[in-house]
Amino acid sequence: MKAVIVFHSVCGNTYLIARAFEKALLNGGHQVVLRRVVDSDWVEKPDVAGDVLASLRAMRALPEAKPDDLLSADIILMGSPVYFGNVSAELKAFMDSTGGLWFQGKLVGKKFAAFVSAGNPDGGGDLTLAVLHTYAKYMGLLSLPLPITVLQGDNGNALGIIQYSNGKLSATLDDKTSRLIDRWSRTI
Ligand SMILES: Cc1cc2nc3c(=O)[nH]c(=O)nc-3n(C[C@H](O)[C@H](O)[C@H](O)COP(=O)(O)O)c2cc1C
Repeated sequence: MKAVIVFHSVCGNTYLIARAFEKALLNGGHQVVLRRVVDSDWVEKPDVAGDVLASLRAMRALPEAKPDDLLSADIILMGSPVYFGNVSAELKAFMDSTGGLWFQGKLVGKKFAAFVSAGNPDGGGDLTLAVLHTYAKYMGLLSLPLPITVLQGDNGNALGIIQYSNGKLSATLDDKTSRLIDRWSRTI
């Protein structure tokens, strides 16, 4: 199967989830394209160093997502940081840029999965996943359930992963999230 992972991340947490999906899908023999959305005012902070800086630089080195990246995929994954219980403006701008694909019904029948990174367990990750799955519905995408919902949190009815960063920057994803993604990738 061909997968495209489109994400937005500023501090790198959503990026780590995207990378974990990429790794799991590659291990499962799938083809994967990883793309970051345009974020023109992103700046490298002077107090960030070491592995975290290397991770953020690797993120920034990825190609920018274009609507056409979605066309050749069998499965589309989208990830966003939670901003005020919603997707980030940057990811929303990408979603809106796919209006032409919606109008032409070009994505109908493809599979879809979503993930978010929130600062707090009750920070609106479920609302943000709902926004992503509403997009999927408009596009005619088939939302795939993920077996566990909120990680490091406790409110769990949303489709997708909500990872709780506690506002930290990190260069590695926690084992629980990685294991969940591995397990999920074996079900698609
Ligand atoms: C403008 C802004 C709004 C945010 N709103 C929320 C929020 O509503 N709920 C929450 O839990 N965290 C919120 N956060 C925290 C981020 O979701 C969290 O730090 C996330 O891990 C960032 O993802 P990233 O590392 O991929 O950039 C907000 C952060 C920013 C900058």
